[in-house]
Amino acid sequence: MTIEIRKLTPALGAEILGVDLARLGNSEVSAIHDALMAHQVIFFRDQEMSVEQHKALGRLFGELSVHPAATAEIEGHPEIRVVHADETSKSVTGEVWHSDLSCQAEPPMGSILYMHQQPDVGGDTAFANMYLAYETLSEPLKRLCEGLTALHTSAHVFSKNAYGRGDKSFPEAVHPVVRTHPVTKRKSLFVNRGFTTRIMELKKNESDALLEMLLRHTETPEFQCRFRWARHSVAFWDNRCALHRATFDYFPQVRHGHRVQIRGDRPV
Ligand code: SIN
Repeated sequence: MTIEIRKLTPALGAEILGVDLARLGNSEVSAIHDALMAHQVIFFRDQEMSVEQHKALGRLFGELSVHPAATAEIEGHPEIRVVHADETSKSVTGEVWHSDLSCQAEPPMGSILYMHQQPDVGGDTAFANMYLAYETLSEPLKRLCEGLTALHTSAHVFSKNAYGRGDKSFPEAVHPVVRTHPVTKRKSLFVNRGFTTRIMELKKNESDALLEMLLRHTETPEFQCRFRWARHSVAFWDNRCALHRATFDYFPQVRHGHRVQIRGDRPV
């Protein structure tokens, strides 16, 4: 098969055509990995995968991790996180800009979302390029940020009704504000509105002001792309250099997908 890559926006995102994710050869796995490194998030259409094949796809890129708020939604498959909204939903997973589970000491390097049912219109996912967020800061601010670390917490996220969990131990972690990608070696801004709550080295009022400025900067429209789902579309994103945000504009329609997370390293 010949792989074709079509960029979504100048900032990030590319659609990959000509692959069957359930039957990948070694050269295709390596081409997909290269595309992910180049575009931060990649998309596929019309893919037929069982739950097992979805997990096997994830395992081609690393070990799978179980979401800490998982409620074993699919029996025998704790690695599958069900993303679901319907006429009873008041909120949805991921409605705030975030990098998946940045509250963990070793957040997942990537996530793969496979859509099974989507509204007629709406329910897009937006993504943002955090290399660009870092690179477009002025030099003095880059230098300041490179010396800082930030606290990422999750109690405010996982205690919401949308995340059923029993044991109430909510992960939190301190990470560098600027991280270096282990593969591309590029620097990216690693703060997000979902989980980042405090810059450790600053006084509270300084932390609040700088963090809000940085978070607004990460949300700059020119750093973004927006993916319109269809049944059996797949998105594979790199949490180390991209943020994402689910758009809940389709109530009361149904949107249903499955996500796997691939283990990552401690950010440095
Ligand atoms: C998420 O993984 O944060 C959810 C993304 C989405 O549902 O579009």
